[in-house]
Amino acid sequence: MNQSTHNPLACPVCRAPLQNDERSYYCPEGHSFDIARQGYLNLLLSHQKRSKHPGDSKEMVTARQAFLSEGHYFPIYAALEKLVLKHLRKDPLDHPLNIADLGCGEGYYTQLLDKKLRETMSSQASGQKPEQASAVQTWGLDISKDAIISACKHNSNVRWLIGNLTQTPFAEHSMDIATVLFCRVSPNELVRLLKPGGIFIFVKPDDGHLIQLREQIYSDVKGQKKNPSIEQAINTDEHPVQHPGLTLIDTQALTQSITLNKSESIQTLFKMTPHYWRTKPEQREKIKQLDQLNTDISVNLFCYQRSL
Ligand SMILES: C[S@@+](CC[C@H](N)C(=O)[O-])C[C@H]1O[C@@H](n2cnc3c(N)ncnc32)[C@H](O)[C@@H]1O
Ligand SMILES: [Zn+2]
Repeated sequence: MNQSTHNPLACPVCRAPLQNDERSYYCPEGHSFDIARQGYLNLLLSHQKRSKHPGDSKEMVTARQAFLSEGHYFPIYAALEKLVLKHLRKDPLDHPLNIADLGCGEGYYTQLLDKKLRETMSSQASGQKPEQASAVQTWGLDISKDAIISACKHNSNVRWLIGNLTQTPFAEHSMDIATVLFCRVSPNELVRLLKPGGIFIFVKPDDGHLIQLREQIYSDVKGQKKNPSIEQAINTDEHPVQHPGLTLIDTQALTQSITLNKSESIQTLFKMTPHYWRTKPEQREKIKQLDQLNTDISVNLFCYQRSL
């Protein structure tokens, strides 16, 4: 991590601004946090976790990393990128653009978005190489140490943090953009960390997500309708993040069929979902026998703006 003059981090103990040198982050009260050898910063205090190893396990992280790296979920990234670029502030920036991906997992989407934003910003600031674009600072935060260690393996400029998304180590009004994909949301914390006018994008699976995989496991999948359609959600104001400080300004629905031609890809997809961890050995065996699977990926993207 490089020294930064625009540091949006706050001390998790006393909330004072954090400063950093090459090896650690520290506050004026003397609380200090070393940068790990892999490059991440652990700002999770012991009372902010409910178990010794909170968040996704190493096995889930390994499966997610293997599956996502094959590119099957790239359309979800592409939809996210489109929405971010559409709502990015167009006026010239007088400060680095700060983006936080909360519950970032092994960082697949985080690092792709960081690269794209660096390219976009460097083409605006003539002569800068994308990786040097100082106008962008992306933060990937997850409560799972294994996820963050895996994220550090990406060749990227993202700063990886261990932290809890319900009590993040970000200063008040420090983020221009926050994203949450396939993870729970903490609306109060989002309103606290976003700048006035800042953007929050929530990517949530729809009822049809991986339906053909679920049909292999459960007997009554078609009857399990939980979510209203995106149109219903908007018309009836039943969208997923309800907070007076956050206004829904845009939505996008994505449904696409993907084909998995390898037994290993089907297995890793199964293992990165909660279904694997809920199923009996005989159901797992059934999935093991599959060597091809056509399944839908179906997600809704909800874009909110923090009140000015
Ligand atoms: C289903 S994974 C999604 C990961 C990533 N966003 C993606 O889509 O590839 C959910 C992630 O949320 C993390 N998580 C769960 N509770 C959390 C919390 N309170 N704070 C931060 N991360 C959390 C888990 O460790 C896991 O990495
Ligand atoms: Zn402190």
